[in-house]
Amino acid sequence: MSNKKAPADTCVLVTGGAGFIGSHTVVDLLESGYQVVVVDDLSNASEKVLDRIDQIVGDEASERLSFVRADVCDRDALEAVFDEFPIDAVIHFAGFKAVGESVAKPVEYYSNNLGSTLTLVDAMRAHGCKSIIFSSSATVYGDPDELPLTEASPKKPATNPYGWTKWMVEQILMDVAKADPEWDVVLLRYFNPIGAHPSGLMGEDPKGIPNNLLPYVAQVAVGRRDAVHVFGDDYDTPDGTGVRDYIHVMDLARGHVAALGWMAGRTGCEVFNLGTGKGTSVLEIIHAFSAACGRELPYVIEPRRAGDVTANWADCTKARELMGWEATRGIADMCRDSWNWQSNNPNGYEG
Ligand code: WQD
Repeated sequence: MSNKKAPADTCVLVTGGAGFIGSHTVVDLLESGYQVVVVDDLSNASEKVLDRIDQIVGDEASERLSFVRADVCDRDALEAVFDEFPIDAVIHFAGFKAVGESVAKPVEYYSNNLGSTLTLVDAMRAHGCKSIIFSSSATVYGDPDELPLTEASPKKPATNPYGWTKWMVEQILMDVAKADPEWDVVLLRYFNPIGAHPSGLMGEDPKGIPNNLLPYVAQVAVGRRDAVHVFGDDYDTPDGTGVRDYIHVMDLARGHVAALGWMAGRTGCEVFNLGTGKGTSVLEIIHAFSAACGRELPYVIEPRRAGDVTANWADCTKARELMGWEATRGIADMCRDSWNWQSNNPNGYEG
């Protein structure tokens, strides 16, 4: 934002605000006093999330939340949003995010993820709003040469269209900031977001068979699936299984609010890693979740999954030094909150 305003006078557009990370960020924004407009087409989210947000934040804060059901690729719908609300900044989460599906449907992924961003950026500049935070991913680092990963670590070619869309949107936004010095762009590279709101009212609710480890483990714990499939135990890691930097979605949400406060009054483009700085193996996750749910979860060892890297974890010094942000929750907290969500909502929002 070109100038610093109090949260109560700052209107934030959150695309994809009904999704997993978006919804947790919306709660934090409302609790921090911001005005929030969510644009989501609900193609991969439930409208029930909005009731849950209201329940968590209460009446006073939920009055500061507006919801518009629309696709971010729909220019007319975005125009109407910018005409109706005095948007100061945008947090752009909306996008397709299934790695495997992106391999089968590259045209849909490029069209949606790049098209929505270009439409959004064009609508923003037409309305004089030049502040954006983008939901990027550690996937842009590919298979790392060195750990931990810092923001200066090289971007590597992506291994799937989903990863390329993150890579390319970063490039587009960097170029936008270079072309017009009034823009204020923050690229947040998430490591592996897991966990849920501690109330048990919001969490991750993937449609179909989960691709990601945590929702799969949680569904085994609740009895929806038989056993966890561990993709490879012959990696060069302490127990042979893949290592990732899992971050609690509440810490990740806070990272967006920290970025919003930090960027106010600045211009340019900055990249931040959002992780914990600690690596955890697949088997460690299964054991931690077993402790959280009170029973040993069954697992079977399978071959490696194509495209997986051995290990990655973040160096988050930059986010701490510049934005004063740091993850505070550990794996036990993440598994406890994820189990609380899953056990209270065995079939997700539609349960
Ligand atoms: C974690 C670890 C697997 C499932 C992906 C995307 C990334 C980001 C998040 C999101 C790995 C192992 C997994 C299972 C397993 N994008 N695993 N059994 O691959 O680090 O990141 O999701 O929107 O861009 O690439 O996360 O949770 O799939 O896997 O053993 O059933 O768990 O091999 O070591 P990943 P993940």
